[in-house]
Amino acid sequence: DWNAGNVIAEQVERIRAQIGDARVISALSGGVDSAVSTALVHKAVGDQLTAVFVDHGLLRKGEREQVEKDYVESTGVRLITVDAVDTFLGHLEGVTDPEQKRKIIGREFIRAFEKVQLDLIAEARESGEKVRFLVQGTLYPDVVESGGGAGTANIKSHHNVGGLPEDLDFELVEPLRTLFKDEVRAIGRELGIPEAIVGRQPFPGPGLGIRIIGEVTRDRLEILRDADAIAREELTAAGLDGDIWQCPVVLLADVRSVGVQGDGRTYGHPIVLRPVSSEDAMTADWTRLPYDVLSKISNRITNEVRDVNRVVLDVTSKPPGTIEWE
Ligand code: XMP
Repeated sequence: DWNAGNVIAEQVERIRAQIGDARVISALSGGVDSAVSTALVHKAVGDQLTAVFVDHGLLRKGEREQVEKDYVESTGVRLITVDAVDTFLGHLEGVTDPEQKRKIIGREFIRAFEKVQLDLIAEARESGEKVRFLVQGTLYPDVVESGGGAGTANIKSHHNVGGLPEDLDFELVEPLRTLFKDEVRAIGRELGIPEAIVGRQPFPGPGLGIRIIGEVTRDRLEILRDADAIAREELTAAGLDGDIWQCPVVLLADVRSVGVQGDGRTYGHPIVLRPVSSEDAMTADWTRLPYDVLSKISNRITNEVRDVNRVVLDVTSKPPGTIEWE
C-alpha cells in the first residue's frame, strides 16, 4: 500500500546517498512541486541546502509572502529571495507570442538564478565545499509529457523537465520523479507544509505571464491579480478546492466589449474562468461549478476589478483545449 511516510523515508535515504556532504540548491516557484521536493531535500541534508525564490512579478496575490513567511517557518529552509520584477517585465515588453513569453521568462529565470548560484558557489568555496546538486520538482506526468517516458510529443515548451539548461554544471536531484500530484500533496502534508501551499492548484512556471492574452504589462498584471484573487477566494469559501484541479483566470487584454456600469457605458476587458477537473493535467474536463458560485465570482470581479466588465466561462475539455490559454 502507498504510504507517504514510507516514501519520505525512502527518498530521504536516496537523497542522502546521492548528495553526501556536498551542497545543493533549489529553486522555489511557490508551487507544490518545488515546495515539496525542496522540503524533502532539506529533511535529508538540512542546511547543505539553500533555496532560491525568484520574484518575477508574474506571481499571484500573496504568493511571495507565503513562501518567505509560511513556508520558511514550517520547514526551516534557508531561503534567498531575488527581486527580479523590473528585469522580467522589461524583457516582456511588446511580446505577445506564448512560446516567446515562455522562452523569455525561462531565460530570465535562469539568469536570475545563475547570479545567486555564483554567489553561493563562491561562498561554499571559502569553506572548502562544493555546490554540486540542483533540486528539481519534476513529477511523473512531466516526465511522460516531455517525452522522457512514453515518448509522447511535447505540446508546449513548458514543463519542468528541461527547464534549466544542460550546460549548468549540476547534477539533478529529482525526488518526485515517480510520483503523481496527489501523492506529492500527501507527502507535503506529512512534512508539515501549510495547507495553503500543499493544497494549492498547479500554477505554471511562467505564471500570470501566460494568462494575459496579449502583452504583459504591470497594469494588466494588477487587473489579473485582483480578479484571480477573487476567484480563488470564492472557490475556497464555497469549499470547492477539492473538486477542482486548477482554475486559471485569464485576462483577454486585447479584447474589449461594451458594458454598462454605474451610470455609464464602459469599454472594458473580459476575464475568462477556466475551472478544470483532472487527474494529472494530461486530460481534463471543465468543472461544473454551481451557478451561484459562478454568479458570485462574476459579480465581485465586475464590481471590484477596474477595467473588467465581463466574466466568461470556458466550457472546453482537454483535448481539444489545453488547460492554459497560452
Ligand atoms: P496545458 O495548458 O498544456 O497545461 O494543458 C498542463 C498543465 O501544465 C501547466 N503548464 C505549465 N507549467 N510551465 C509550467 O511549469 C509552463 O509553461 C506551463 N504551461 C502550462 C498548466 O497549468 C497545467 O497544470
